[in-house]
Amino acid sequence: MTGKRLLIVAHAPSPNTERLRDALVAGARSPEIEGVEVKALGPFATTPAEVLSADAIILGATENLGYMSGALKDFFDRCYCPCLGLTEGMPYALYIRAGNDGTGAKRGVETIVTGLRWRKIQQPLILRGAWREEFVAQCRELGTMMAAGLEAGVF
Ligand SMILES: Cc1cc2nc3c(=O)[nH]c(=O)nc-3n(C[C@H](O)[C@H](O)[C@H](O)COP(=O)(O)O)c2cc1C
Repeated sequence: MTGKRLLIVAHAPSPNTERLRDALVAGARSPEIEGVEVKALGPFATTPAEVLSADAIILGATENLGYMSGALKDFFDRCYCPCLGLTEGMPYALYIRAGNDGTGAKRGVETIVTGLRWRKIQQPLILRGAWREEFVAQCRELGTMMAAGLEAGVF
């Protein structure tokens, strides 16, 4: 048991995005990964204390109106200042569900986490366009990758 904590902050406003979040959580909780506590919260329910006690974070949002969903923005509005300077180097990953683009949401999140000096573990996963079942597997893989990396101490 490594006692590491993986925090998932995912906005899931639709059945499809609920499936993405659930797959991410299931991947992170894969039975072969034993040493990582996985906590999944919606953005509105996530407090700065949750972030401060995490060892890595996965962020998930939809793109709405050319930007990250307001829910994830609210998370940053409340957590940015309390976390600034205290979470530098935080390993993070990002996935975005976007009906047709995703670049505005990606840019918005990356600007903010650059300010926080969080550390990108992999390029953002942008699940773009009409719904595809493969998005579910991609989220599951992302969850497993983050949890396994945390357990192995590679971040
Ligand atoms: C008000 C509104 C604004 C949206 N704006 C964008 C947008 O700017 N770019 C984009 O790629 N998708 C946009 N979408 C599509 C959402 O990203 C998409 O519906 C959401 O990710 C949920 O995916 P789902 O339909 O597979 O459940 C918008 C959806 C809504 C309801």
